[in-house]
Amino acid sequence: MTTADRHECAAALVAAGRPAVVLELGCGNGAALALLVERLPTARLVGVDRSATALTRAAQRLAEPVRSGRVTLLRTAAGGLDLPDGSVDAAFAVDVNLFWTGTATPELATLRRVLRRGGVLHLVVAPPAPNPRVRAGMETALQGAGWTTTAVVERGAVVAVSATPA
Ligand SMILES: C[S@@+](CC[C@H](N)C(=O)[O-])C[C@H]1O[C@@H](n2cnc3c(N)ncnc32)[C@H](O)[C@@H]1O
Repeated sequence: MTTADRHECAAALVAAGRPAVVLELGCGNGAALALLVERLPTARLVGVDRSATALTRAAQRLAEPVRSGRVTLLRTAAGGLDLPDGSVDAAFAVDVNLFWTGTATPELATLRRVLRRGGVLHLVVAPPAPNPRVRAGMETALQGAGWTTTAVVERGAVVAVSATPA
């Protein structure tokens, strides 16, 4: 599984829903957002990361769509995310391990708050080798926080779980 594959998987899942406003939590250097800039030409994209280094790289990669206002990059941890309630159509995260290694309680609470009714969250993780604990961990965290899993995609080592707040 290459970096491009996991970002491609996430971008395909998100773009399929034709969302108007998309949030990526833990956007890193902005690789997945760059794919969505191409695939969702009218969508507004918000990338969030707590790392200044990651956001600097994302800002370089996405300089033009940031300038035009299509992409907004925010440096914050998930818990401090200052977006209005119900303002996001689709949210996603790629290789943000807290969603399968623990309960992700504050992060899932924030995502629940900012997603509109019927909005969807896609969690994509690409471990170095197939690891059944990844899917199980994500589904357990989601279920524990009151989310309903709507789809699971497993392609090689990559696991994508889609869910909506119950
Ligand atoms: C392994 S990197 C993946 C980056 C990118 N999604 C990718 O696939 O290339 C995980 C990223 O999530 C960010 N991150 C982890 N926990 C976070 C949190 N609670 N709030 C915001 N960002 C977080 C890290 O700073 C890091 O940039």
